[in-house]
Amino acid sequence: MLFNKILKITCVTLLLLVMHACNKKQKENGLKANAEFPIGTAIKIETLNADFELQDLQKSNFNSITSASDMKMNRIIESEGVYNWSRIDGILNYAQNNNQRLFGHNLIWHSSTPKWVEEKALKDTLWLAGFMKDYITTYVGRYKGKVAGWDVVNEAFESAGGAMRETIWYSVMGKDYIAKAFTYAHEADPNAVLFYNDFNIERDTLKLNATLKLIEDLREKNIPIHGLGFQMHIRMDIPDEVIANALKKAADTGLKIHLSEVDIIFNTHNDTQYGGEQIYTELTDDMKKAQAEKYKNLVIMYRSIVPKAQQYGITFWDFTDRDSWIDGFFSITDWPTIYDDNLQPKPAYFGVLEGLKEEL
Ligand code: G3I
Repeated sequence: MLFNKILKITCVTLLLLVMHACNKKQKENGLKANAEFPIGTAIKIETLNADFELQDLQKSNFNSITSASDMKMNRIIESEGVYNWSRIDGILNYAQNNNQRLFGHNLIWHSSTPKWVEEKALKDTLWLAGFMKDYITTYVGRYKGKVAGWDVVNEAFESAGGAMRETIWYSVMGKDYIAKAFTYAHEADPNAVLFYNDFNIERDTLKLNATLKLIEDLREKNIPIHGLGFQMHIRMDIPDEVIANALKKAADTGLKIHLSEVDIIFNTHNDTQYGGEQIYTELTDDMKKAQAEKYKNLVIMYRSIVPKAQQYGITFWDFTDRDSWIDGFFSITDWPTIYDDNLQPKPAYFGVLEGLKEEL
């Protein structure tokens, strides 16, 4: 009887020790433990709260989170002056409880501007500037010192080339809407790191040059802009040299550089919803190896081209193929992230890890 009891205690103790060792190994081998800068991921708080396996992976690999959609205007302000902070407070709790940085995405974006704001602005063009000030002052002020940085303006340029995107903000307030947004955000939280964020600037030279010109103009007017966000939604066929050149030009500004929405697809698209083209119908081992190399090179380029003081971090836009936005948005089947549909690490995961560990 006593022997059985001792045997049971010994087995349980051994099991706990093994689990602890595995957990410790997973933590040691996690991405964040091997990075000199914050490693983040986009999250949907409902999905995360409902999936403990996903949570474990998120907590063991990442020390920064960006909300995929819940910190956007159309998810916060139901009508003028009526705010719903509940989802954001839940995300902040998760970040604080897990010692993670919360990055704010985003304040001003055409795609998440509620219809009622657009309609009211068209009726009363003088109203929009006042609304923007109230919105940013209230929102950034509420999370002062809690949200580390913000994408103040997202995607102000057309998808391709360097022209300004014809948004309600641009058409009603002119290009100055960008300077105003940064000014209001800085006044509301002088310590928050403020970013301009966009896509395709790693491969569209006209768009990158227009973005760098915008930043130069803002800085000449002493507008408080501190960083540039490369969304980095890239394809396997975008040459590393092209990306490296863009990162170099951006790093030369001295601004913080954030790879803010990283994923790498095999297929292609025309930057519009449902605009995907299905070239690959299955994910082969060779494709997995090539993607791992691509992720590794991207991390090494970031580490070797962007000076340490400007490395704001790398954030993946969802870290499992299961939860990625790509398939739903472009109506294709792709494999863009570092974990597969069963939450198992892909070669891409180890590509990122090798990129973080590479002696430079
Ligand atoms: O949560 C609601 C759910 O209650 C409702 O039943 C469902 C059907 O309408 O909608 C759900 O909200 C969706 C939300 O994602 C949460 O999953 C919104 O419709 C959907 O529009 C929203 O999509 C997000 C999109 O931005 C628009 O905000 C994507 O998850 C997110 O990945 C995407 O992220 C953008 C970046 O902000 C900017 N760069 C490109 C990137 C990808 O498009």
